[in-house]
Amino acid sequence: MSEQHSPWDIRLEHLRVGYGNRIVLDNINAVIPGGKITVILGESGCGKSTLLRHIIGLSRPMEGHILYGGQDLFALPERQFRRIRRRFGVLFQDGALLGSLTLAENVGLPLSEHTSLSRSIIRSAALRTLALVGLEDFADYYPNELSGGMKKRGGLARAIVTEPPVLFCDEPTSGLDPINSAQMDQLLLDMRVAYPDMTIIVVSHDLASMERIADHVLVLREGHVAFAGSPDELQHSQDPYLRRFMDREASNEARIAATPTNPAVREALDAWLEG
Ligand SMILES: Nc1ncnc2c1ncn2[C@@H]1O[C@H](COP(=O)(O)OP(=O)(O)OP(=O)(O)O)[C@@H](O)[C@H]1O
Ligand SMILES: [Mg+2]
Repeated sequence: MSEQHSPWDIRLEHLRVGYGNRIVLDNINAVIPGGKITVILGESGCGKSTLLRHIIGLSRPMEGHILYGGQDLFALPERQFRRIRRRFGVLFQDGALLGSLTLAENVGLPLSEHTSLSRSIIRSAALRTLALVGLEDFADYYPNELSGGMKKRGGLARAIVTEPPVLFCDEPTSGLDPINSAQMDQLLLDMRVAYPDMTIIVVSHDLASMERIADHVLVLREGHVAFAGSPDELQHSQDPYLRRFMDREASNEARIAATPTNPAVREALDAWLEG
């Protein structure tokens, strides 16, 4: 079977997504290849998390289809819809560890919620997964005792404890320093060693991270797909927007034109500072 036909190929067809009457992305046509790492790039607010919510089945598209191995996610009978969603691991943008549970309990949560495994088996599965992300020594810490980067790694451990064939990560490196970002990327690359067939979809605006991990890249811009292809093709694109994006240049149109401070505000601030 050619890799173009992995059971976890995800196909987006004429997809329109948004909130209420507001369209965020329209006429999205793209293939996310199974068994690879796809990075979905785009500026803040362009709709990356929104797209992810729909691909994982949390929200129904306004129009169009999301096909998993040729099956339309939102046309599946309820039972099959739930079965397919069980195969997704998700690292949400904010990590979303529960503050009242220890790290090991958080990581074991998908197992304690969905299986009747004993507490000791769940704990050992959680510890094994924490070891994969380098946090085995922090199993009994609470989230507020962990750094931002550790919380992200904990969130990743929780996303992979069920060994899902498809892993979605929303901004795994945002808010991390360059060293922690590189470590998070290495962890995602390590996932392919631990789980070679895993399909990984990473939503990001981190170009350095994309360069390290991506097999395939989608760039979203102004509601549409501005690019789909390999990182190498993206590097060599001559499209003016993509060039600016890749060269990390601010566009002139986006410059903020601030009006001068109101003199009354300035005066009140001066009085406060001197008071
Ligand atoms: N729950 C919601 N209800 C209404 N509008 C929303 C909701 N969530 C997001 N939006 C809107 O959808 C648009 C896209 O937001 P989204 O969070 O998908 O962007 P993003 O690309 O993930 O941004 P970032 O890189 O900052 O995470 C924004 O204009 C936002 O205001
Ligand atoms: Mg987002």
